[in-house]
Amino acid sequence: MTMKKTLKTSAVLLALTMGLAACSGGQSESQTGKDSKNEEGKTSQSEKVKIVYARGQDSTKATEKIIEAFEKTHPNIDVEFREMPADTGKQHDAYVTMLNAQSSEIDVMDLDVIWPAEFAQAGYTLPLDRFIEKDGIDLGKYNQGALAAGNFNGKQWAMPKFIDAGMLFYRTDLVPKDKVPKTWDELLKEAKELKGKGGTKFGYLMQAKQYEGLVCNAVEFIASYGGQIVDKNGNVVINSPETIKGLKKMVEIVKSDVVPSNITTFTEPESHTAFIEGQSPFIRNWPYQYALANDKEQSKIVGKVGVAPLPAGDKGSAAALGGWMTAINKYSKHPKEAWEFVKFMTGPEGQKISAIYGGLAPTLPELFKDPDVLKANPFFAEEGFVNALNAAVPRPVVPNYPEISEIIQINVSKALAGELTVEQAVANMEKEMKAALNK
Ligand code: GLC
Repeated sequence: MTMKKTLKTSAVLLALTMGLAACSGGQSESQTGKDSKNEEGKTSQSEKVKIVYARGQDSTKATEKIIEAFEKTHPNIDVEFREMPADTGKQHDAYVTMLNAQSSEIDVMDLDVIWPAEFAQAGYTLPLDRFIEKDGIDLGKYNQGALAAGNFNGKQWAMPKFIDAGMLFYRTDLVPKDKVPKTWDELLKEAKELKGKGGTKFGYLMQAKQYEGLVCNAVEFIASYGGQIVDKNGNVVINSPETIKGLKKMVEIVKSDVVPSNITTFTEPESHTAFIEGQSPFIRNWPYQYALANDKEQSKIVGKVGVAPLPAGDKGSAAALGGWMTAINKYSKHPKEAWEFVKFMTGPEGQKISAIYGGLAPTLPELFKDPDVLKANPFFAEEGFVNALNAAVPRPVVPNYPEISEIIQINVSKALAGELTVEQAVANMEKEMKAALNK
């Protein structure tokens, strides 16, 4: 009922905005057409179109380099970078506020892999199919899992930009290769031994604040002990001995003295900053950590970083699947120029820059063989990395994911704070998720 109403409202909004877009778009197109005819294809300053590209805080140089390269090859398009909050949940809410108000202030935006279906259903993004077809983009060249995250109701709403999978990064000067921990217990033991050595203050860093990254860390603990949250058929299966075991290990680590005492305030930036400042031998983070740790301008541990799969529980190692896609705001006044930027950034040239300067794992598998990409990220060639990417565990794929995520965030946080036992937290999650999914 509610869903139908939302869809109906968005259909009306869609019709309205398409009308508006047609009016404003029509005008600028005819102007451009007139100019370009008498100027033999040369672009003049007056034809310049400015588009605004929004994404979360980028601690690497990748965004700057992509925009630079794009503007060089597209002299008629200026790209302004709008930095959004690093916390993906806050970023989500900022977009939702903007797009609910039908704002055209941003043209292109990066979407976390968990959002495209929600955004498509709410009518926030433009379907990209006609652009893809017109430019003959071969979707077969993309990682199909990553591509699928941007597909909803048979349409492609976002292009895959990079894949994320949780990994263990360690200090090669403190941890010999044969000592890289293979299980959570080994990690705890070694983190205890190394804490305080070689200028470190902590033994392990992760993300334990109440936000989306906590869900990713929890998924990894749960899956490494064989637990699941929602099964393939959409059934809530979280209340299992395996999930309980996984979350107990997470609580044990968070409550131990190997992590900073305020670890429940840590998101990616807090943890990566402590790591590149040399404060910990180990960190759980996404692949961008490698490029950042090797950035001479920011890092004190250049050349001293190794990458390994996350430690295993009873059932092996598990990485949460993350990543980002790029979409066009449906209310953009410059969809054509916006597409040019999307095409460039998510195409081979843009993804190569992201991989080299941002350490981001491409969604175009051919780039894993590119010598420049491999020089910047030697671990991309390792079997362990490729296997971790391929086996990464998705978060529950349900249309009201934000609600499910909140249930996990709240209950796991309470378990970490000792306000609930893991058993109680899991029972709450089961009950609340069943209610949310059966609405
Ligand atoms: C990374 C992942 C994203 C995830 C987020 C959580 O940005 O790519 O999918 O939601 O981290 O903090």
